[in-house]
Amino acid sequence: MQPTIKPSNPNFSSGPCAKRPGYDVSGLALETLGRSHRSALGKKALGLACSETARILGLPEGYRVAVVPGSDTGAIEMAMWSMLGARGVDVLEWESFSGAWVTDIVQQLKLPNVNVRRADYGDITDLATVNFDNDVVFVWNGTTSGVKVPHGDWIPANRTGLTLCDATSAVFAMDMPWDKLDVVTYSWQKVLGGEGGHGMLILSPRAVERIEAYDPAWPMPKVFRMKSGGKLMEALFQGETINTPSMLCVADYLDALKWVDSIGGVTGTMARSEANLQVIEDFVAANDWISFLSKSKTTRSNTSVCLTLKASDDQVKKMAQLLESEGVAYDIAAYKDAPAGLRIWCGATVEQSDLQALMPWLSWAFGQVTQA
Ligand SMILES: Cc1ncc(COP(=O)(O)O)c(C=O)c1O
Repeated sequence: MQPTIKPSNPNFSSGPCAKRPGYDVSGLALETLGRSHRSALGKKALGLACSETARILGLPEGYRVAVVPGSDTGAIEMAMWSMLGARGVDVLEWESFSGAWVTDIVQQLKLPNVNVRRADYGDITDLATVNFDNDVVFVWNGTTSGVKVPHGDWIPANRTGLTLCDATSAVFAMDMPWDKLDVVTYSWQKVLGGEGGHGMLILSPRAVERIEAYDPAWPMPKVFRMKSGGKLMEALFQGETINTPSMLCVADYLDALKWVDSIGGVTGTMARSEANLQVIEDFVAANDWISFLSKSKTTRSNTSVCLTLKASDDQVKKMAQLLESEGVAYDIAAYKDAPAGLRIWCGATVEQSDLQALMPWLSWAFGQVTQA
């Protein structure tokens, strides 16, 4: 039987993700629009984007936060181009984006001393054998496979290399061990349901030391430069961006941070995401035709939840199309390079009740495409 109740918000995309509950674009503080981002007003908003991020995430003393160009990709590439090459590199790959960072390191930067530690979709690299005398580049959550790092216990406090972590689909949804992470990047359009285009770059004091002490052999484009006269450009970490940001997106980000505060901070956003995952876990437990792509529960993502079905690739594709045409779930087909399946975003901005409403539709759509 076709269900009658539809999710009130069918947006389950893994980025840009659903806007927060109660979001209203007319509620944004827009006095910065049409003004210079270097005016006192503009700088105040951008400075707040940095300082409120540090406060709400509970970053340790001495950690810096900047808004940089090019979304998460811009932030992680800026970090890799500025810091890598001083030591060997261990780079961990278990899905598409982590693979993109391997390409950067091996084919673009052409670094000589690189260990690529690869695992298939659904699996994760053996974390116990990572060499922390090297710099270590990894994603916290593999958005295209739904496989996340389970915790930070595998990262030693006394490492000599740096850890560079692309955490774009993890920050605000997963418990980040900040003292184990020297570089963390994310973008606004994931867990917070913000807008794309801007990257967040978080640096530990050890990362700052590296930037100041090390000059890479390659040229550095202006959009990657965060050092001047041998010193970190501290103003960048107080809101003086490298180039012009969208002040509309900044206003939207500040609005998202206020919402995080209003629901109890990161504890609140993590709890919402975990509760969302639980809805899918209950559904998978009750249905033998659907399973998680992640082989282990401990590495199962609570944001980009990837599912495989007992159906052909073509049937899975039809199922996603059917759900979209019924207006119950948009953008839930697996990532283009990942194994066929569904990917349902369970980040903080998604309402648990919408996932509950969606589950019977999955059963219905599966029946439609497999019995046809
Ligand atoms: C793990 C990971 N890294 C990087 C990116 C690229 O992010 P952006 O489009 O914000 O640059 C994504 C996008 O989904 C991602 O999931």
